[in-house]
Amino acid sequence: MGGGKRRFAIVAVRMTRNIEKVAWFVHLKHCMEQQQLDELMVCRLDETRKTVEPCSIVIFGASGDLTGRKLIPALYHLYKDKQMPPEFRVIGFARREKTDDSWRTELRQALDQFSRTKPVDDKVWQEFAKNISYCQGEFSDLEAYKKLEKQLTTFGSENLRHNLLFYLATSPSQFGEVVEQLHLAGLLHKDTPQGWQRIVVEKPVGHDLESAYQLNNELTRFAHEQQVFRIDHYLGKETVQNILMFRFSNSIFERLWNRDSVDHVQITVSENLGVGGRGGYYEEAGALRDMVQNHLLQVMSLVAMEPPVSLDAEPIRDEKVKLLKSIRLLTPDDVAKHVVRGQYFAGVVDGQLRPGYRQETKVKADSNVETYLAARLVVDNWRWAGVPFYLRTGKYLPLSASEVRIQFRPTPNVLFAAHCGNKLDPNALTLRLQPNEGISLRFNGKVPGASQSVRPVRMSFSYNSEFGAYTPEAYERLLLEAMAGDATLFIRRDEVEAAWGIVDSIRKGWDGQPLSNREFYSAGTWGPVAADDLLAQRGHVWRNPQLNDGAATPKLKA
Ligand code: BG6
Repeated sequence: MGGGKRRFAIVAVRMTRNIEKVAWFVHLKHCMEQQQLDELMVCRLDETRKTVEPCSIVIFGASGDLTGRKLIPALYHLYKDKQMPPEFRVIGFARREKTDDSWRTELRQALDQFSRTKPVDDKVWQEFAKNISYCQGEFSDLEAYKKLEKQLTTFGSENLRHNLLFYLATSPSQFGEVVEQLHLAGLLHKDTPQGWQRIVVEKPVGHDLESAYQLNNELTRFAHEQQVFRIDHYLGKETVQNILMFRFSNSIFERLWNRDSVDHVQITVSENLGVGGRGGYYEEAGALRDMVQNHLLQVMSLVAMEPPVSLDAEPIRDEKVKLLKSIRLLTPDDVAKHVVRGQYFAGVVDGQLRPGYRQETKVKADSNVETYLAARLVVDNWRWAGVPFYLRTGKYLPLSASEVRIQFRPTPNVLFAAHCGNKLDPNALTLRLQPNEGISLRFNGKVPGASQSVRPVRMSFSYNSEFGAYTPEAYERLLLEAMAGDATLFIRRDEVEAAWGIVDSIRKGWDGQPLSNREFYSAGTWGPVAADDLLAQRGHVWRNPQLNDGAATPKLKA
């Protein structure tokens, strides 16, 4: 290249670079303006939200794992984020001898370990911890409740004495006793003369419909149903709450949300952990009771329910119950065809050899308890007639991920579909509940270039890139709602009972039968082969969650 030409080339390159820079700034400015515009469009739905009044939270079973691992970290963060009421107290009630100080020290250690923000802010903790005290007593001893009552009367304000949130972090077999003693000690009333009293309970609410029914009777002996807040921590997750917002605030998707457009739905909650130290509990529960009765059916009810008449707690819960009641109960014959159990044997997970379920501590050597479950559920209502809902969950699967995949119907078998057959991917919308929280839409596009090729591409929304890393723990939201008295994110009695009806119909179909060979899977795989057969019966295949889902589609050669 001659000198003149070279100079021209250099100038041209510099100009191009400058133009690129200008274009970049213009783009950036545009994005920022767009973001400001989006911010102006934020629609606040909680302006009429009840304020959280000063109250005392009494945790029964305060020495247990849940208190240190979840409850205290959640309360600490609510305090740190200035969301706790102006005045509050936390009292731990348990059998073990402890002083206020020794309990605080214990809690601080747990917080250091389990806090979602690290290090713990010592100044905030010291202020927060001033509100914490301990009350030692047996759950069956009325005198202990009187001691608790005395402790409450030392709290200055009326609100702290009468607005009481009783968190039952105990075994369900103790719910009835605690509730009765609270009532006898004058701390829990159905129609309270002063303040409010609420009971918060954790799952499992029963182990079948009958026991759930009895437990619910015990819980409501001395309290109205509206005073009972049953936790399913999945409802505290942002992404699960977003299901209703997504469905009912976007016209483009809701009109497709029915049997005309949807081919089938897959709900996956996979975990790459085994049962670990919880073998004893798991032997009683299994995946069906531990995960399906609550988390999976709750997610399914949000995905499939009809629009509620308003955003208040009862209309939303009414629709969820209606949906649960329209899930067809399975006959023993159906169970054989619609449900697959599985149990892991030894295998490699994350590069490490893991024991089989039968070798876990407190697990019987010939146990038939399921660590995996896949089911095809049928919803007998107008919207979903004929659309299979596939639910699956399992321990020691390749990765921990929860997602809902709405698989749309394929295009008619002409044009591209006629050429490509099943290589033309039907559209799918994936709600990624965790991790990499987000939503992605899969559709087909032309691969650039001279050849005529079509392949799936993805349009993705990621919580992280849109809103930054905002990751409050589910328990923070749930405790706040319980203090505010908003029951939307809690399970109503009839919901629990409807879900047990479905679960019982499945258990009845198993009727003590041992697992077949096709129902075992190696730890670290996506479950037993029988689960693939379940979908293959209808020409479907499981779409496994991908850890990098939501990231740009990898580049392929045109
Ligand atoms: C609990 C189950 O309810 O949910 C556990 O008892 C399970 O077995 C856990 O591991 C899963 O919750 P998450 O929030 O980790 O998906």
